[in-house]
Amino acid sequence: MARQYLQAGARTIAYIDSAPGAGPRHTLVLAHAFPLGAQMWEPQLRAMPEGWRLIALDLRGFGGSTDPEPDSSMPSLDEYADDMVDLVEGLELDSVVIGGLSMGGYVALAVMRRQPEWARGLVLADTRAGADTSEGRAARRGMLALLDREGPQGIAQEMMPKLLGKTTIETNPDATETVRRLIKGQSPAAIRGAILRMKDRPDATPGLAAIGVPTLVIVGEEDVLTPPAESEALAAAIPDALLVTLLGAGHLSSLESPDAFTAALAAFLQERF
Ligand code: MLT
Repeated sequence: MARQYLQAGARTIAYIDSAPGAGPRHTLVLAHAFPLGAQMWEPQLRAMPEGWRLIALDLRGFGGSTDPEPDSSMPSLDEYADDMVDLVEGLELDSVVIGGLSMGGYVALAVMRRQPEWARGLVLADTRAGADTSEGRAARRGMLALLDREGPQGIAQEMMPKLLGKTTIETNPDATETVRRLIKGQSPAAIRGAILRMKDRPDATPGLAAIGVPTLVIVGEEDVLTPPAESEALAAAIPDALLVTLLGAGHLSSLESPDAFTAALAAFLQERF
């Protein structure tokens, strides 16, 4: 599916729309993981349930979206939240369900932290609410150095064994290739901006109890980056949350087990809205 573009002030927000120009009644907006882009949602873009439209956005710097301040020394995760909000408002969508996988989940939680009633539902896949630990921030600094030395190729090399579950690595070379291609297609500036934004993101845990909308929490059983215990804690802290664990999937559960992921998503959307 082709990317489309929205101009929001000085920046361009790119997105992929499962039903451009069509009129399904309900819209789901999803943000991608690090360091991929909107295209990671292709399996879901092709299989939305009846009456639903999916809009997958490229966060600033990724895919076709521009980052107006790539050299800013204090980039914030809230800028990604602005990307999601500006896209929804620019496209004049009302009452959307929002969500994301991993970094994309941080973004959806940032939107809800700022405006708890903004979305009518939430999808949080392979993510967590907590901020980085000091160890985690040190690892991010290591990642910045790796990016400087080896570029996106080095980041792909380093991250692939953690992004993908054991089952996918052993049995699904196509998914492995897709992820490598999606990472290598991103610019060093986008990857740098995401590392900096994630490193200093605030803790979203205190706001979880105030999330008053139906929430789907999905996790791959073999996720080593945000293990199932993280998702259990997330679902337990959100008043109206359903937890689904996908067997044989790792961190990138939507890509690794697309059919099971999409089925869980469709069931949630159709039953709750
Ligand atoms: C992601 O998949 O988006 C990353 O694992 C998030 C992170 O590095 O915290």
